[in-house]
Amino acid sequence: PITSIDSAVDRRPSQVDEPGKPAVRILYGTQTGTAERFSKQLGNELRSRYGDGTTIDVRDVENYKAEERLASEKLVVLCMATYGDGEPTDNAAIFYTWLLKEAEAVEGGEKEPYLQGVSFAVFGLGNKQYEHFNAVGKKVFKSMKTLGATPVVRRGDGDDDGVIDDDFEKWCAELVEALDNSDLVGKRTDQNGAAALPVSVASYEVEVLRGAEEVSPFPSGTGKDVHSPFWAKITTVRELHTSQSDRSCVHVEIDVAGSDITYEAGDHVALYAQNGEAVVKQVADLLGFDLDAVIRLSLPKEGSTGAGNLPPPLPGPISVRTALSFFADVLSSPHRDALLALSTFAADREEAARLALLGSSQGKQEYTDFIGKSRRSLLEVLQAFPSAKPSIGAFFGGIAPRLQPRFYSISSSPKQHPSTIHVTCSVVRDVMPTGRVHEGICSTWLQRHGNGAAVPVFVRRSQFKLPKSPSTPIIMVGPGTGLAPFRGFLQERAALAASGAELGPAHLFFGCRSRHHDYIYQQELESFAASGVLSNLHIAFSRDQAVKDYVQHHVEKQAATLWPLVSDGAHLYVCGDAKHMAKDVHKAFLAMVQACKGCTGTQAEAVIKELTDAGRYQRDVW
Ligand code: 2AM
Repeated sequence: PITSIDSAVDRRPSQVDEPGKPAVRILYGTQTGTAERFSKQLGNELRSRYGDGTTIDVRDVENYKAEERLASEKLVVLCMATYGDGEPTDNAAIFYTWLLKEAEAVEGGEKEPYLQGVSFAVFGLGNKQYEHFNAVGKKVFKSMKTLGATPVVRRGDGDDDGVIDDDFEKWCAELVEALDNSDLVGKRTDQNGAAALPVSVASYEVEVLRGAEEVSPFPSGTGKDVHSPFWAKITTVRELHTSQSDRSCVHVEIDVAGSDITYEAGDHVALYAQNGEAVVKQVADLLGFDLDAVIRLSLPKEGSTGAGNLPPPLPGPISVRTALSFFADVLSSPHRDALLALSTFAADREEAARLALLGSSQGKQEYTDFIGKSRRSLLEVLQAFPSAKPSIGAFFGGIAPRLQPRFYSISSSPKQHPSTIHVTCSVVRDVMPTGRVHEGICSTWLQRHGNGAAVPVFVRRSQFKLPKSPSTPIIMVGPGTGLAPFRGFLQERAALAASGAELGPAHLFFGCRSRHHDYIYQQELESFAASGVLSNLHIAFSRDQAVKDYVQHHVEKQAATLWPLVSDGAHLYVCGDAKHMAKDVHKAFLAMVQACKGCTGTQAEAVIKELTDAGRYQRDVW
């Protein structure tokens, strides 16, 4: 149990300020941890390749004083993820804005290109499903060049829709080859046929503090951003599906009174999920951890441990139970580097060899078969290799990724609920190829334990917003939980109407499987339609008849009604599944433009692009 949820200070040591100039500075802009993982991996690779003579500093770009340091660096490697609609990650926002401004100043002739002595490399992380693929990596690369820095290797473009680890590995091979042939780093020390260096696992020293009181896993903050989550109270968790449905979707109300949180309809709220008790106990039993032990992790005083100078991943003192609940992602599939790290702890030789193979680049096929296709979780891997028992310091340092906060589209309007945030969350329950039932960590916790519980939350601003004027027509497409932000929009419009505003037309396209199973918020939607907050409600029930009926079919049918609204300045919104639905709806919009305007496909695409650039076609898709 958490003894104090409002400890005032973050007792997690923050990364020490930059020590003397390193030979290689690796900076990461990360949202879900991949860029961070890659940066550490690269740091380890360079350390083992060039030995101790080459100092390598891996760092969260947020803890980097670019203005003071960048110009005097020798080699900077930037691993930069793109998030949302071509935006930088939260931790990279300040650096990114600053860098682009500096480049602009050079382009405008106000500044000299002052990074001429600096070499650099950029690996961008993104997803090809999104329009602004790797926008941040691309702009960072371009800006560094504009500022006069010299690239040592082509820009890397990691695609999370494919196998991003392979993209990174390929790019790393090119990077180190370029470094081998440069005088930027020391001589290679791992050559001459010597056996490969032992795998260096990021590991921390563990101090057991008997009788110590644990700190809160998240110091209580304002809730305004990722650095300052607020412990909010969940006041309502209500099932939205009928008893006939075999799935579950919950309506959640989060009381944020007492925080500094303000929000707008369309923003996102992040919740720090926690593992269920059973999962925590399974990990502890497998690894022989004492759940009640109160520990503190620290950087080892000597020796290279692969942790670099990165601060410990846990606040302290903390009980092993709380640490496993809040900080270890054991239900996702482990990455190759985690398997390699795990292999070093396997007492059984065969297990060690198999893990080492799974974690190596020679074992790609084995990895795909055993992990990729079967979607085996880290927990299942621990079960399959019972002799692999890493220490707590290595488990949190180099094996279990940090559990990430979960983002939800807010489904309320502050005009109706100023200090309460509503979330519409479908409870994730999938049967995996191994037969394991995967329960979504956050949604399952909300459903089972959410009501009345406290949870750290923060709000993330989005671009997904109603038009400035309530009289501008809007067209909303949101099947399933894609409905969430539109419920917020409709609440907002109801409040605006109540205060005398004139409302423009609003079409909502909602889709679900059956009128009798998963037609969520039915009464609310019907009363929005009855009161005129919604001018047209179009519902697609996909499984109430033999032939699938989807939202895009209704968009197609309504084309002649929708097009005049678009010509009149309407804003288009799509929320929900990115892989299929959003693409099909996009096609339906294109077909509408083409048919109604009587133009070619290419011209229709140009119209849609114009709408997008003008902020009149917005998507919140996942
Ligand atoms: P289905 O599961 O019956 O195929 C919300 O998830 C709704 O979106 C469901 O009715 C689901 O239908 C539907 N859906 C599935 N694929 C879709 C697609 N490509 N386009 C639009 N809706 C889709």
